[in-house]
Amino acid sequence: MTDTAGRNAVEHDHEQSTFPPPADFAAAANVQAEEYERAREDRLGFWAEKARTLLDWDTPFTQTLDWTNPPFARWFADGRLNVAHNCLDRHVAAGNGERVALHFEGEPGDTRTFTYAQLTDEVKKAANMLASLGVRKGDRVAIYLPMIPEAAISMLACARLGAAHSVVFGGFSSDALKSRIMDAEARVVITADGGFRRGKPSSLKPAVDEAVAGGDTPVEHVVVVERTGQEVDWTEGRDKKWSELLAAAPAEHEAEAFEAENPLFILYTSGTTGKPKGILHTSGGYLTQATYSMFASFDLKPETDVFWCTADVGWVTGHSYVVYGPLSAGATQVMYEGTPDTPDKGRWWSVIEKYGVTTLYCAPTAIRTCMKWGEDIPAQYDLSSLRLLGSVGEPINPEAWLWYHRVIGGGRCPIVDTWWQTETGAHMIAPMPGVVATKPGSSQRAIPGVEVKVVDDEGADIAGTDPGLLVITEPWPAMLRGVYGDPQRFKDTYWSRFENTYFAGDGARYDEDGDIWFLGRVDDVMNVSGHRLSTAEIESSLVAHDAVAEAAVVGAADETSGQAVIAFVILRQGVEAREGISEELRAHVGADIGPIAKPKRVHVVDELPKTRSGKIMRRLLKDVAENRTVGDASTLADSSVMDVISQQVESTS
Ligand code: WTA
Repeated sequence: MTDTAGRNAVEHDHEQSTFPPPADFAAAANVQAEEYERAREDRLGFWAEKARTLLDWDTPFTQTLDWTNPPFARWFADGRLNVAHNCLDRHVAAGNGERVALHFEGEPGDTRTFTYAQLTDEVKKAANMLASLGVRKGDRVAIYLPMIPEAAISMLACARLGAAHSVVFGGFSSDALKSRIMDAEARVVITADGGFRRGKPSSLKPAVDEAVAGGDTPVEHVVVVERTGQEVDWTEGRDKKWSELLAAAPAEHEAEAFEAENPLFILYTSGTTGKPKGILHTSGGYLTQATYSMFASFDLKPETDVFWCTADVGWVTGHSYVVYGPLSAGATQVMYEGTPDTPDKGRWWSVIEKYGVTTLYCAPTAIRTCMKWGEDIPAQYDLSSLRLLGSVGEPINPEAWLWYHRVIGGGRCPIVDTWWQTETGAHMIAPMPGVVATKPGSSQRAIPGVEVKVVDDEGADIAGTDPGLLVITEPWPAMLRGVYGDPQRFKDTYWSRFENTYFAGDGARYDEDGDIWFLGRVDDVMNVSGHRLSTAEIESSLVAHDAVAEAAVVGAADETSGQAVIAFVILRQGVEAREGISEELRAHVGADIGPIAKPKRVHVVDELPKTRSGKIMRRLLKDVAENRTVGDASTLADSSVMDVISQQVESTS
């Protein structure tokens, strides 16, 4: 039975529901229940076995973990391997050269397909091209590209040479690009004239020109992929065409093996304050866990699955689940350049139908956007190829989970809610899809081989279901090896709060079954009259209301209660901002969670401030809620949004 918002009864009754894996799925799953026990009994032995069986080593390692100098971990340190060889050549050598590695779908509808053999050839040439520009082991290369195959090819070419890449998301400004180039001391930048977004070419090269214009960066070469054919300025000597360099590059390239701890990449994460941290990842441990999680969390069957992770390569999800994880695992995958609503709101679903995607991995914010657009849109496409769905990036509210499960997954696909971070490199907490009965809204438990806990402020185990802090109690193979160039910041940020324990910065709690629920970043946890409340929990409640499409909640300073809950909501398409709606929503939250969680104010707005990666910037909403001048909004996808919100709030307060 469905209601007016198109949801069936179970979506109103999510508290009780769990979803066991379908019997045939469970029987054929890569990970069975014993794997948890095996990993618990001998964690290091478990990871050593995964590293040996999932990767090709040129020199086998003899030591699994060196943790003699915490928090600086070394995994498989005396082993040697080449990451690109593991992602490419070995699949060709194993007879899978004709398997499709990449189905590329450009936003304008152009397509390119690369088999593993073809992708290997491209990367060999690209490695020779970079070598001809002087790139060597230990160097850093900045990559500033749209979602096109050349992004993956560039990353793998660096890996092949033992050079570290620093991918900078194409939506970042020239200033952000410059500071990342400077911090990593990159001598080469790989960019494109532009990419296609929302039906138009959007330029990239001018930002690179601006970033390196002063002549004060270490950049010697700018390699330009021609994607859109836009006119670009050209600096002779410095700028080079990708196509010309590649055509001139020799076809053969022998991959040299490097030590397991050779840096693979630096990826900058925007902290809430201060300059971005360059998160450093290395080779053997990172690739082991990225590869393992493909088989474990996504139950990958490389011969038959078609995997699609919608993330941009500018984020860690794109590193681990567009490039390294899928390719190392020998998967066939889809890479899509553009936005979900170009040329229309059915684009994602048409991509799934066209390529027979079996495994979709995206963010809750995307799911909520699709909910807002209405389920009649995906209903126009054949989504029956899907067999597993993944979620990443933020807590997925039960309402969105259930919609994803029913409307996109046809009720038959396990949903794997994966919790991890740029810093963790790969999945850390996620239900193994063939073993665990999934629970809407909960990431549930650590993957085999990973040890986590919820603790209180003193680091003591949390009793019962009280909210606490998520910590990782044992080192893991894909863990960050540091903050680039700043060992002290590495220690201070992650390892100073509790001894030899990684502090993730996320609030979490156990439920009665011992499953983990994330409550948002600890800076988003509010304290109202001495009660701890989660922004995520209240948002989830608001979104569960028929009228609400999206919600963001902040804790604003309040004289009497310490903090007060202020909510900003976007109504569903077709719902009018009727008289009394704010009061109705307040009452709804009060009834759903408890009177203490009732927002003091609910503002109906047209937009929420989101970064280009889709994260809501609550800090800015907090400024509005606290009647302050709105702070730096430059990282918003659309910086004019804050003016609109401020006006709407003013006119309704
Ligand atoms: C949040 C993205 C709840 C969390 C891979 C974390 C999540 C931050 C989940 C890292 C999830 C990510 N459930 N919260 N499944 N996945 N997060 O570095 O707050 O961009 O600390 O890495 O996103 O974001 P990052």
